[in-house]
Parts: sequence; structure tokens; C-alpha cells
Amino acid sequence: MRGQKEVLQVPATLEDIKKSYGKISRVYATLEGRFEKGARRKGLELLAVKDGEVVLEIGIGTGFSLKEIASSVGEHGKAHGIDITPEMVKISKQRIEEAGLSDRVELYEGDAREMPYEDDKFDAVYMAATLELFDTPDIPRVLHEIKRVLKPEGRFVAVSLSKEGREGSRSLRFYERLHQRFPQYASCRPIYVEQSIRDAGYEILQQDELVIGSLLPMKIVVAAPI
Ligand SMILES: C[S@@+](CC[C@H](N)C(=O)[O-])C[C@H]1O[C@@H](n2cnc3c(N)ncnc32)[C@H](O)[C@@H]1O
Repeated sequence: MRGQKEVLQVPATLEDIKKSYGKISRVYATLEGRFEKGARRKGLELLAVKDGEVVLEIGIGTGFSLKEIASSVGEHGKAHGIDITPEMVKISKQRIEEAGLSDRVELYEGDAREMPYEDDKFDAVYMAATLELFDTPDIPRVLHEIKRVLKPEGRFVAVSLSKEGREGSRSLRFYERLHQRFPQYASCRPIYVEQSIRDAGYEILQQDELVIGSLLPMKIVVAAPI
């Protein structure tokens, strides 16, 4: 079948990604962010952060989800956020400060492929609309890095554009063409989310799917390291 098991390469360097997210950071929350809101909400619901937990979000963007996570960990927990784009980290910092949650949040500007955190640190790791930004060889690298920083009994929740079972979808193929032509705007592309997570040594505990904008399937996958 056309498109079977084929995932597009990412024709953008890390510097390009940083630059384009830097440029769109101010409007991100109202444009792309709104488009993906339902999937993010579902992701946070399945993440089910508990009081006192230590939780990491990767690719925090403007800090919408990180603020929710910070509220849920309570005053005895900690929310950590990492993002490669300085402007995104700055906007998140403002949002967290305005919410009066700075004392329970730690932000780090850096690359998720090599994180500064020690092994077995987090109860949970969350990643929305970010895993599918990484080039194909980097997806297992990031997933292994997440496994390293997760506690053995920890959980990982990914929200990602998904190709699984949708290879024949015309809207996905249209979006893939957009990604190839305008990677700076359609920076994410659909990937085999569940399969990638399984291949990196996780067990899938739960999964759900939402179709955003009536066109693009997003999967929410809850997984545990094996
Ligand atoms: C599509 S946005 C998603 C933001 C947020 N998670 C949301 O749901 O709105 C992707 C984010 O991942 C960040 N990012 C991209 N590559 C990264 C990398 N290698 N390491 C850390 N963050 C990265 C970008 O700067 C951007 O803020």
C-alpha cells in the first residue's frame, strides 16, 4: 500500500527549528496551540499527575501544559520543562511567574536528545506535538533518553500526529506534502508513534486517538519502560 511504514525525513536542522519556533513563539498559543488543544487536554488527563510527583515536560512551547502540570504536582512536587527555543522558555517562564508557580518549576533551555537530568529522576514524562518533530533516527534516541531519566516504575505520555492505520488517508498525505514543501510552518509530520515507543523498549499501557481540525489524527499513548 502507498505510504506503508514510510515516515518522512525532517528537512530542517535544529537551528532551523529553533529559529522558526523563535519567530512564531508570540502567536503560537493562539494559532497552532488552539488547533491542538483537545489532544493536549486528553494527554494531560491520561498523564494524571498526582500531588508530590516530579514530572518533566519536553518541548514546553509557551508553557500551557507545564502550568497545568505545575498546579497538579502541588507544593511538594516539582515540574521540570525543557525546550530548545529561548523565546519559548522565556514565554513559559512569564506564564509560570504570573500563575505564582515559580517555586515548583524548573526550566531548562536545551536539546531533548541529551538532557541534563540524572537517571531515574521522574515519576512521569510528558511530550505533546514534539516527538514528531525529531528526524527519524533521532526518535529512538529521544525515547531512550526519556527511559533513562524515568524511574523504573514511571510513565511516559506522548501526544503525536500519527500514521498508524491511516496510511491511505488523503488529508495525511496532503499534510505530508505541506511538511515537505513548507517545513518551517508544518514542522511536525505524522509518525508511527506506538510502534516507535514499543521498539524503544516500552510497554503500551493505554492509547487514545483524536482527529484534530477534522483532518489529522493525533494519538495519545501512555507507556511504561520495560
Ligand atoms: C509544536 S511545539 C509544541 C509545544 C507544546 N508541547 C504544545 O503542546 O503546544 C514543539 C516544541 O518543541 C521544541 N523543540 C523542538 N526541538 C526540540 C529539541 N531538540 N529539544 C527540546 N525542545 C525542542 C520547540 O522549540 C517547540 O517549543
